[in-house]
Amino acid sequence: MSPTVLAKVLPVVLVTLAFVVAGCAPANDNRQNSLNPKGQNAQRIDDLFIPILWIAVVVGVLIMAATVGFAIKFRHRPGDDDNPKQIHGSTPLEIGWTIVPAVILAVISVPTIATIFKLAQEPTGEVLEVNITGKQFWWQVEYEKQPGINQGFITSTEVHMIAGVPLRLELASDDVIHSFWIPELGGKQDVVPGRKQHITFYADEPGTFLGQCAEFCGLAHADMRMRVIVQTREEFEAWAVGQQQGPDQAYSGEIEELTGTKYACTNCHTFDDSGQTAYGPNLVHIGSRETFAGGTYELDRANLVDWLLDAPSLVPMQSKTCREPTATPGLGCIGMPSFTNNTPEGQPVMTQSDAETIADYLLANQ
Ligand code: CUA
Repeated sequence: MSPTVLAKVLPVVLVTLAFVVAGCAPANDNRQNSLNPKGQNAQRIDDLFIPILWIAVVVGVLIMAATVGFAIKFRHRPGDDDNPKQIHGSTPLEIGWTIVPAVILAVISVPTIATIFKLAQEPTGEVLEVNITGKQFWWQVEYEKQPGINQGFITSTEVHMIAGVPLRLELASDDVIHSFWIPELGGKQDVVPGRKQHITFYADEPGTFLGQCAEFCGLAHADMRMRVIVQTREEFEAWAVGQQQGPDQAYSGEIEELTGTKYACTNCHTFDDSGQTAYGPNLVHIGSRETFAGGTYELDRANLVDWLLDAPSLVPMQSKTCREPTATPGLGCIGMPSFTNNTPEGQPVMTQSDAETIADYLLANQ
């Protein structure tokens, strides 16, 4: 390579490298780093991944170096228009590069298969069992009666567990394929309609672990998030007792009129019984959650009012066919309607003050 070509290429190479390295920077930690394992199963996956990564790095570097080395060695030189000596086939080399990768793969397969079996082991002793149902575009979380929980209840998006007690999830889907993934707790489980899948999470310390749906499932796939909240036993039991109760504020009078009749929220949501599943999230204790709208928005009054008025502007849930007045009713419409843009057609228009009344009621129910 001539010095002038090098001078042109080098800045491009350096800038590209700078961007690549910056991509690994720990700034703006999104808390979904699968290289930051927490808990037994995540650690097992990491213990398998890192050594294999280094084997792959060595193989990759050797192949790159050989490719570049041969390119330089056999490059075209001014004044020499002869081809290098042409060869075809080499039995020792062919045997060599068949056997060496086979041996490497055979060696790698031993810890890989062992890890697969360890991850699939059912937890023993005290286990918290929770049923998860994937829906477009949120997760329904169902706690059945079990130690510490006298009466089942339904919540959404946020899964609570006890530090040191394995969390065994039974996963199902109500519509399309989703995938449940909490990177720092390890593992990822596809959720397939018509099947029951299982995954166990272990977490030793309290903390909140973020995740998101990892299988493209429609318009709002990117907004289908979830979190696992690891608590001490006391915190968890206090939370679970609260979730088993009815709403803190009676569901009657104006709020029942607004949500039951005027805006028909009760077509999809439950306001008064935390044991009841519905098409949309159970709202009895929504005030106790950190997030809403598939885990995409922080739960506060301003966000909730905006959502009540015009949810499809915050999370893409309606396709073009739903927004066209001439469209087949309901086609392409998933989730919350817009109470300002009249989609799907026929929705009433919600006043700001009605939205605030509903938001205040929801937030008051911890
Ligand atoms: Cu659910 Cu992607």
